[in-house]
Amino acid sequence: MQKKLAILTSGGDAPGMNAAIRAVAKIGASSGFEIYGIKRGYLGMLNDEIFLINDSHVSGIIDKGGTVLLTARCEEFKQEKFRAIAANNLKKRGIEYLVVIGGDGSYRGANLLYKEHGINVIGIPGTIDNDICGTDFTLGFDTCLNTILDAMSKIRDTATSHERTILIEVMGRRAGDLALHACIAGGGDGIMIPEMDNPIEMLALQIKARRKTGKLHDIVLVAEGVGHVLEIERELKDKINTEIRSVVLGHVQRGGTPSGFDRVLATKMGAKAVELLANGESGLMIGIEKNELVTHPLEFACSLEKASSIKKDYELALLLAK
Ligand code: F6P
Repeated sequence: MQKKLAILTSGGDAPGMNAAIRAVAKIGASSGFEIYGIKRGYLGMLNDEIFLINDSHVSGIIDKGGTVLLTARCEEFKQEKFRAIAANNLKKRGIEYLVVIGGDGSYRGANLLYKEHGINVIGIPGTIDNDICGTDFTLGFDTCLNTILDAMSKIRDTATSHERTILIEVMGRRAGDLALHACIAGGGDGIMIPEMDNPIEMLALQIKARRKTGKLHDIVLVAEGVGHVLEIERELKDKINTEIRSVVLGHVQRGGTPSGFDRVLATKMGAKAVELLANGESGLMIGIEKNELVTHPLEFACSLEKASSIKKDYELALLLAK
């Protein structure tokens, strides 16, 4: 009997998810799997929103942001009884293979489906936050970073004209990767991330010192994990001599055409997921480390906080912000 493989996207959408769906569907079909899509992630698995995928579902989607499978966050899936119902919806169709594209919450669900119900699962890291252990990059991070850089350039124009300090709050959940990379790549003038202590006094001194050298603007990247940017603006206001404004970039960061990097990475990861399942391997996540595709047990990605070179990069960003 033909082996059946389902794909779902879960958690916050990320540019590149569609490219990964396409790769799994196309490579999966050519490897002999019958391919199914699950709508709205684990919620759709629970509500039995499962359908056969054909070429038309994945045609023309490689350059589209978001996810054609739709996505959701599913609280019920944290309970064993609901996971059993969802797993049964796969089993009654004879679906034994599953590719989950999402963040660490999605991996926790995937790991439980693998452990409790013997579903052969592979995880692909899809989140703009870049906060998954076992991979240097997640799908969507690069596109999101470029969206932030584009916004930074525009904000700098007006900041310079008015000689203002502008704080930009960027997403990332508890991780500072987006803020840090944007600060380095966009020539930011200050940075606040949750992984490091960020004394307001230090930022204020830095801004005042910069102004003495004739700088006309300050663009400060604030990761959302540090706290609300308006609170920070309130604290900073009295400590500097310049006019200050804040921008919350918000969900603009999650949309848009995926970058070439994200599309290639998504495609390679999708192909790798099929290869692993076809070779009888599962319970794994795929990552990219030192420019090579790697695999780790899903459990590894679920149980650890991502260790990264953040301290070194933070120091570099501070040095460049002077
Ligand atoms: O995990 C992706 C992410 O965009 C985070 O950066 C952010 O904190 C969160 O999702 C926002 O979630 P929602 O779209 O549900 O408000």
